[in-house]
Amino acid sequence: MTQPSRRYPRSVACGDAQIEIARMTSGDRDALVTFVAELPAQDLLFVPRDISHPKVMDAWMHSLDKGSVASLVARANGRVQGCTAILTDELSWSKHVGELRVMVLPAWRGKGLGRVLIQECFAQALELGLKKLFAQMTVNQTGAITVFEELGFRAEALLHNHVADRDGKLYDLVVLSHDVAGVAARNEAYGLRDALGG
Ligand SMILES: CC(C)(COP(=O)(O)OP(=O)(O)OC[C@H]1O[C@@H](n2cnc3c(N)ncnc32)[C@H](O)[C@@H]1OP(=O)(O)O)[C@@H](O)C(=O)NCCC(=O)NCCS
Repeated sequence: MTQPSRRYPRSVACGDAQIEIARMTSGDRDALVTFVAELPAQDLLFVPRDISHPKVMDAWMHSLDKGSVASLVARANGRVQGCTAILTDELSWSKHVGELRVMVLPAWRGKGLGRVLIQECFAQALELGLKKLFAQMTVNQTGAITVFEELGFRAEALLHNHVADRDGKLYDLVVLSHDVAGVAARNEAYGLRDALGG
């Protein structure tokens, strides 16, 4: 069920502040480098590659241009406070699946921004014609796991000692997934699509 293109930028309320959500472009590179530098090292571990490395950042920007990654940025006070990425592979047998990544700066956590961004990604996933989203995080990211479960993600796999931090310490990785197409179809059947915002 492919949905029509969603309009950006859009402004949403987060706590007492307004935040602007826009599609990320390669022009956001410098602001993203600043954003990533402010993230705790532990929060980078769920991304298979180290996004604080310039080459990895270049690859991300290149993927935006070629369309294999769809990303959003959340801005307030002229700075990036959160961002998302949905990674797809048109040539894979799993081209109906997107990998979702969401990051919010610590100062902005707990204000509802993560929830807003994940919900925007559900809309984006439908726009891209995806049926399933999955996200991976280390098992000690209990806050992140709670947010994803509250939004309908369910644990699907546990990968033992799958990630090593810069000191070589090993962590288990949990994979959570969401049946975006099924949930959207159910919402449509119950007449909830318009009520949940377009
Ligand atoms: C996961 C993440 C994006 C959540 O962002 P956030 O802006 O703090 O999330 P929200 O404020 O929208 O929280 C949504 C819900 O999750 C719950 N929640 C959030 N943080 C929590 C925590 N630390 N512990 C328990 N529950 C938590 C809250 O109950 C909240 O529900 P409520 O609005 O009804 O109170 C953010 O913590 C983050 O960037 N983490 C590091 C990166 C990461 O691990 N990403 C996940 C892998 S893709």
